[in-house]
Amino acid sequence: MKNERWFDLGPVKELKKHTLQHIIIGKMPIALVYKNGEFSAASGECNHEKGPLGKGHMEGDYIVCPWHGWHYHRKTGHSKPPHDVACLPRHSVKEKGSHLFVNLRPQNRRAYFPHPPHPLARKIVRKPGPIRIAGISTTPMDEVLKRYSTSERLLETALAHARTKLKAETKLIKLRNLKFNHCGGFYSIDEKACTWPCTYSQIDEKDKLGEVYEALVFWADIILIATPIRWGSASSLYYKMAERLNCIENQAMLYDKKLIKNKVAAFIITGGQDNVQAVAGQMMTFFSQLGFLFPRDPFVGHSRGWAAEDMDNNIKYVRSSNELRVEINRLVEGAVEMSRSLLKK
Ligand code: FES
Repeated sequence: MKNERWFDLGPVKELKKHTLQHIIIGKMPIALVYKNGEFSAASGECNHEKGPLGKGHMEGDYIVCPWHGWHYHRKTGHSKPPHDVACLPRHSVKEKGSHLFVNLRPQNRRAYFPHPPHPLARKIVRKPGPIRIAGISTTPMDEVLKRYSTSERLLETALAHARTKLKAETKLIKLRNLKFNHCGGFYSIDEKACTWPCTYSQIDEKDKLGEVYEALVFWADIILIATPIRWGSASSLYYKMAERLNCIENQAMLYDKKLIKNKVAAFIITGGQDNVQAVAGQMMTFFSQLGFLFPRDPFVGHSRGWAAEDMDNNIKYVRSSNELRVEINRLVEGAVEMSRSLLKK
């Protein structure tokens, strides 16, 4: 019949062995379902980021995309809330003799129900204005029981100097106050499954890492990251954030889409025990892969060494050290100078 193009999928007996399967016909992926004694077929390409639906799994009557978990009804092709934004092309199937056939002409078009694009998906344009510095404090120490964070204190010193002496705009993000997911490692399924905006920013409205993405990609010209040293490494919160920044690096790797351009990064690293240079090395390597550039003196480190367990004295030192303040000021000045030259300001 007109508008029908039947394709032989093979013996019904064999096809019944799998609840869900991914079948490629030419270039067309089909998700074939066998459930409750009947076959149904839909496009095998997810509306979200083209994940291979037939390689996912079934949850009740829904096909679950293996990449980020969108659900599609096996018969209607409609996605399930909270992702009720799409409908898959559905394909008819029929048994003839002992074989199953699929009509390659879909019954309906792929639909994207109207919804506003994600705010992070907008074009990256620097708004006019003075140099802008985002400080990100990665100490996990919260405010419930007050403790003195040397890394955060020095970060505040840096931002104050930038505001008052260098006339920069600043903002401080305390990472511990943001609730956000650990990286889901979606690229482990397929590199394209790691998306921009980050999948968690798209699918979980409770995920608050958007504030960091906004600062890094859109708002700031300079980022200052402050971390304590914990067992020789940056803080666990730093790593939790860094893993979620994979989506920035992945865009450059996969699509040559550079989300970070002409931006400067610098670091403040403090610790009861030493390892400043190793931590700085890791941070610089990572942020260079995101696309950040570094000033001549890209980090300030402070540690009184392995044997110095006397936190009281350490706090006194950080509070009163003129040397540290001079170094911190120099760090910000170097970053601002570099940013001005990159932005030709
Ligand atoms: S590609 Fe299917 S849920 Fe993202």
